[in-house]
Amino acid sequence: MKSSPVNRGSSMKILTVIGARPQFIKAIALSVAAARSGDVEEILLHTGQHYDDNMSEVFFRDLGLPQPKYRFNIGGGSHGEMTGKQLIAIEEALVQEKPDVLLVYGDTNSTLAGALAAAKMHIPVAHVEAGLRSFNKRMPEELNRILTDHVSRWLFAPTQTAVDNLKREAVSGAEVHLVGDVMYDVAKLFIDNPRHRTAIAETLGVQRGKYAVATIHRQENTDVPERLLAILGALAEHTKHQPVILPIHPRTAKMVRQNPQADALLSQITTIDPVGFFDMATLLSGAALAITDSGGLQKEAYFHRVPCVTVRDETEWVELIDMGWNRLPEKLEKDSILSAITQARIPEGPDPAPYGQGNAADEILKVLRG
Ligand code: UD1
Repeated sequence: MKSSPVNRGSSMKILTVIGARPQFIKAIALSVAAARSGDVEEILLHTGQHYDDNMSEVFFRDLGLPQPKYRFNIGGGSHGEMTGKQLIAIEEALVQEKPDVLLVYGDTNSTLAGALAAAKMHIPVAHVEAGLRSFNKRMPEELNRILTDHVSRWLFAPTQTAVDNLKREAVSGAEVHLVGDVMYDVAKLFIDNPRHRTAIAETLGVQRGKYAVATIHRQENTDVPERLLAILGALAEHTKHQPVILPIHPRTAKMVRQNPQADALLSQITTIDPVGFFDMATLLSGAALAITDSGGLQKEAYFHRVPCVTVRDETEWVELIDMGWNRLPEKLEKDSILSAITQARIPEGPDPAPYGQGNAADEILKVLRG
């Protein structure tokens, strides 16, 4: 597609809004590419949506992400409260900085707040990870991504499926570019550099290929007791076959503390505090299986050639289902989840590399610079 570059002479100023764990990871790829370019100035703004050290700072340390120029403290509370406060704060930063481009990643409340603040000030918005759809509007993320796509000028789609979704919605006034997935750019930092492997598996006493790694944090799973019990029940049952390591998200920990049945199941699983990028990559790459409701982890499992079961009703990353790397349980019930776990295996078919070549960040900058 023909691109309309930012036209500002020799340099371009991008203000990037991040706030939640996966965004600190995604941001490093473009941040490095921008610094290397010599003619792109990137300013990071951290909304504070995630604020614990092991949900935020650890990723800056692990990946060498520059410290944000703007750092707010807007996490927790209801969706409206969080998004609204972020909108106000981001608008003030935009007034100060007058960037050429506002760049956002993914589908969190920080994504929507950033996109909306900029669009209303007529600052063009670049949305990285555009076009993903679960077709489930009860998910806060689905609303965030649809609305962000519809106020953006550049839609950087990670997959052909995402491009097709955007075409179907006929998003007006935007350019759609298939650039691949920035998560693959970042996963390669680990895959190509064995020195980043940590000692976490040894510390936990698990052997390569003989354990499962799990993560659960989606509101539709943690905040609905039957679903939480079904997932934890399946994980607890699976520990009869192999250890299950669960780095526990603060939301999940909070909901389990309020539910004695869930707490009893959790005690059968090896839970650890949330871990940094390289610890997680080490754990995941050595696992026999991933069980998750995270979008990012589904793909990271595939990048590390680990089969995955996604404990959700649907997934945005349908390529992984088609290729056989990922499975959805028939129902979000304990037996269905266990049956998907039993069926999970490394598929034999061809690998069409649906997430690109690991150069998405360079492709994005190329479009923006024209
Ligand atoms: C958010 C995103 C989700 C993304 C996920 C990654 C939205 C709507 N959802 O979900 O798309 O997959 O981040 O992790 O934006 N909390 C802490 N400490 C922290 C972070 C959060 O205690 O460092 C608590 C919050 O106060 C809140 C709960 O965890 O009570 C959930 O945090 P929130 O940012 O609302 O949503 P996530 O589930 O993390």
